[in-house]
Amino acid sequence: MHPNNVGRCGHIANASYAISKSLRGLHIGELLVKDCLLQACATNFRILQFNAVVATNIHARHLYERLGFIQLGTIKGGFKIKDGHFEDICPYYREV
Ligand SMILES: CC(C)(COP(=O)(O)OP(=O)(O)OC[C@H]1O[C@@H](n2cnc3c(N)ncnc32)[C@H](O)[C@@H]1OP(=O)(O)O)[C@@H](O)C(=O)NCCC(=O)NCCS
Repeated sequence: MHPNNVGRCGHIANASYAISKSLRGLHIGELLVKDCLLQACATNFRILQFNAVVATNIHARHLYERLGFIQLGTIKGGFKIKDGHFEDICPYYREV
């Protein structure tokens, strides 16, 4: 977790998560996001924002939506996949 921006937007945090393939779906990610919300609050961030959730990442989106994150539209073609094609991304945010 780290600041998503500086100055007057420095109270918005950003974070990234990755769970080993063999351990996904066991709600470890949920624990990480919930802990992140607590840490963000404790360190005076007011918002946790995810900038680049790939639209096809249904498990991540399901997790974030279940924890109350709000999707802010869709950025068409915002993410370049390794094979060179572009996927949409969905920014999400939540007050902590
Ligand atoms: C996104 C990620 C961090 C979530 O961690 P996780 O521990 O798998 O998440 P959770 O188990 O808390 O929640 C995932 C949800 O998808 C479901 N799910 C089903 N099959 C799944 C699978 N193969 N992998 C992941 N989630 C699965 C889970 O059951 C859960 O839904 P539920 O709440 O209805 O039970 C993890 O999947 C991951 O590391 N993905 C690759 C990296 C990535 O995409 N990071 C996020 C970038 S925005």
